[in-house]
Amino acid sequence: MIKIAPSILSANFARLGEDIELLNKSRADWIHIDVMDGMFVPNISFGIPVIKSIRKITSLPFDVHLMIEKPDRYIEDFVKSGADIITIHYEADKHLDRTINYIKSFGVKAAVALNPATPIESIRYLIPNLDMVLIMSVNPGFGGQKYIRYSSDKIRELKEMKDKFNENLLIEVDGGITMENVEEVVKNGADIIVAGSAVFKGGNIKKNIENLRGDL
Ligand code: DX5
Ligand code: ZN
Repeated sequence: MIKIAPSILSANFARLGEDIELLNKSRADWIHIDVMDGMFVPNISFGIPVIKSIRKITSLPFDVHLMIEKPDRYIEDFVKSGADIITIHYEADKHLDRTINYIKSFGVKAAVALNPATPIESIRYLIPNLDMVLIMSVNPGFGGQKYIRYSSDKIRELKEMKDKFNENLLIEVDGGITMENVEEVVKNGADIIVAGSAVFKGGNIKKNIENLRGDL
């Protein structure tokens, strides 16, 4: 069964608590938290104090997607703020193997995200040691962008590697997922669907999640 991880980047920040309450009452599996530093991506979102405060009002797992340069500097802070899964970008860390082990040393799950232009092959040797790989299906930085077609080829390629090298690996896909393409993304091998605008648009969070899930 697939998991849905709503991205709160598309939530109403003036009423973030209320949106989290709605997620609590929905069939959301995880909360996807997009942290941006204005360096790795051309946008700044929110950080540790916000994560700490929402940790108090939900027990849903926190899937923290770090779009920041040199993420190793902040791993301990994100663990303390309540992260259950920490995703770092392949392109943002020169010593991925070390940082992955560092994340795991705190007892949280570790994942690597790949930008659209980064080949799956780049992380071939890390796969046995990873809990999850996040395939970016848009260029990171903003919600509401269009799904990049070749992402589907990358999902299939990663699924083949998963079958060969780590059957427990989770495949997460993030960016531009809508009612129209979710089925294809899942068919290609995604286990976790991140969705921002598709979940928060129109205000009916619960219904949007049900619709995305469909029969998947
Ligand atoms: C983009 C973020 C995504 C984004 C997804 O950099 O990583 O999680 O919020 O938003 P949608 O689903 O609107 O593309
Ligand atoms: Zn994300």
